[in-house]
Amino acid sequence: MKEIILNNGVTIPSIGYGTYKTTDGSSYFNILDAIDVGYRHLDTAKVYNNEEEVGMAVRKSRIPRKDFFITSKLDRKCLGYESAKYEFNKSLERLQMDYIDLYLLHWPRTDYGKEGFDDWKEQDIGAWKALEELYHEGKVRAIGVSNFLPHHLENLMNYANVIPCINQLELHPGYLQIEAVEYSKKLGIALEAWSPMGRARLLKNETIVNMAKKYGISPAVLCLAFCLQMQFIILPKSSNKERMIENLSALGTIISPEDMNTLISMPQSGWSGEHPDKKRVRLESALV
Ligand code: A2P
Repeated sequence: MKEIILNNGVTIPSIGYGTYKTTDGSSYFNILDAIDVGYRHLDTAKVYNNEEEVGMAVRKSRIPRKDFFITSKLDRKCLGYESAKYEFNKSLERLQMDYIDLYLLHWPRTDYGKEGFDDWKEQDIGAWKALEELYHEGKVRAIGVSNFLPHHLENLMNYANVIPCINQLELHPGYLQIEAVEYSKKLGIALEAWSPMGRARLLKNETIVNMAKKYGISPAVLCLAFCLQMQFIILPKSSNKERMIENLSALGTIISPEDMNTLISMPQSGWSGEHPDKKRVRLESALV
């Protein structure tokens, strides 16, 4: 498996198995299948309600813990210093592990502007300070963020001593979040793509279907290969063992520069396009 070196020297497999809502609801067996076909990078979160299953599957595999790369995330309802420390330890307990490879702030504090949400900057920073301490204590090998737009990163960077290793965003040909991607890259933050197939929506897209035919691959593999070529770490999820295997084959496809341009130029819309902060940013830019 190809690996990427993060800004703190830690390596991460470029394909991870995404465990959010595996479609038939049996995460434990899906995760066992994923491990069986070769995935060693598993992406979970408190809100996915399957950290226990991830831990159980890793132990059941009898593969040494050090051969896995495990990511979990702090629930956005639990930001702030004390809460972040408490929740991190709860994740360790649920996973039954003594360290996590990568721990992310799952979402920035959103909904600010609403009553009771005017402390977003302090809440994000408090949680980040907790993650920095956990990192220095060796309980987590790398720390990062998810769904952070440039203004969230800017706020964090005003106070951070440790630069996030990762920003995990919704990223696929139909949604490239260029501003957030460019801002992250400038800071040396690697990008991870959640829903790299646009939650299967892109698999019926005419441009993607026709281009996939030309390469003799499936639309799914085309989307994944595109993301890998953009240097994104990808987190495809599937509850089907054949498709799990198929998704790993994306590393073998090279897309021509012309076709990359066609994919980059596709109309943009994403599930997180209605990120509450994004509306605010649009509104603010309209006012300037
Ligand atoms: P299934 O679990 O039945 O395989 P995303 O990761 O972009 O959110 O997309 C996940 C969706 O894509 C799931 O519904 C999954 O369904 C489907 N999927 C995953 N891999 C493939 C594939 N290789 N071919 C077709 N559909 C896939």
